[in-house]
Amino acid sequence: MSLLRLEDVTRTVIPPDQPALTILSGVNLTIEPGDHVSIVGRSGSGKSTLLNLLGLLDLPTSGVISFDDRPVKSYSSARRDRLRGASIGFVFQQFNLLAGRTALENVTMPLLYSSGRTFWQRKRIAAEMLELVGLGHRLNSMPDRLSGGEQQRVAIARSLVRGPRLILADEPTGALDLDTGQSVMELIDDVAERTGAAQVVITHDPMIARRARRHFRLDRGILTPVDDPAFEPLTRREMREMAPVEPSGDAAEDEADVLDMFADDRRES
Ligand SMILES: Nc1ncnc2c1ncn2[C@@H]1O[C@H](COP(=O)(O)OP(=O)(O)O)[C@@H](O)[C@H]1O
Ligand SMILES: [Mg+2]
Repeated sequence: MSLLRLEDVTRTVIPPDQPALTILSGVNLTIEPGDHVSIVGRSGSGKSTLLNLLGLLDLPTSGVISFDDRPVKSYSSARRDRLRGASIGFVFQQFNLLAGRTALENVTMPLLYSSGRTFWQRKRIAAEMLELVGLGHRLNSMPDRLSGGEQQRVAIARSLVRGPRLILADEPTGALDLDTGQSVMELIDDVAERTGAAQVVITHDPMIARRARRHFRLDRGILTPVDDPAFEPLTRREMREMAPVEPSGDAAEDEADVLDMFADDRRES
């Protein structure tokens, strides 16, 4: 059973007073549970348009999109909204945090729509999620008091607090420096691994793309698999070597992961 499947998908828009513009054509892509896919493409190649289809925000002009092997075209928009809210977490370049709200309030927000135990326990669940992303000590901080890397971690905690089965990231590190970007990607990988979520990461950064298991290129709306050896997935060792703090030995490995996460904050504060 596949989680998400696109079959011969096209997306055409008709801008006012202009000829129809085909942004995506003949896109085939199957995402399995726990998958990790990267999509690389230049600006204007159709990445965000594709992400909006993967996120069930838009419907294709032709072709079929299925979630859990069921075509989503037949769903009402309310049902698509519910499915998206429960199953898909988005991570964007812009953190989109609510300015006048604390980190904890921002992460609690998506849980306001849940029911029963989750609703009543929402603050505890949100606090645990912030703990998981290394911000347990920043629950009551306003976004403007946090560094860029910390803000992205709050945004990630908010995206993942409902335990999505699919994480969609569009240039997630675009607003971060190299080291902070790497540690943010490491964090998403860890959460995905722990929860079994699938990841689709859209990026123009080859180092981010290499973290995935399967690779695609989007070029003028056409998606093709890439098996260039330069895109071999990174080994854990290579990932560690790129991280800001290097472990001094095997015993230091676990600790080093945690240190990596905090290193950027220390540098920025
Ligand atoms: N609603 C729209 N109307 C007209 N043109 C659009 C629309 N959406 C996207 N485009 C155009 O389609 C192309 C692909 O856009 P987009 O998916 O945002 O690319 P990317 O995210 O790869 O930069 C761009 O040339 C963009 O200007
Ligand atoms: Mg884009």
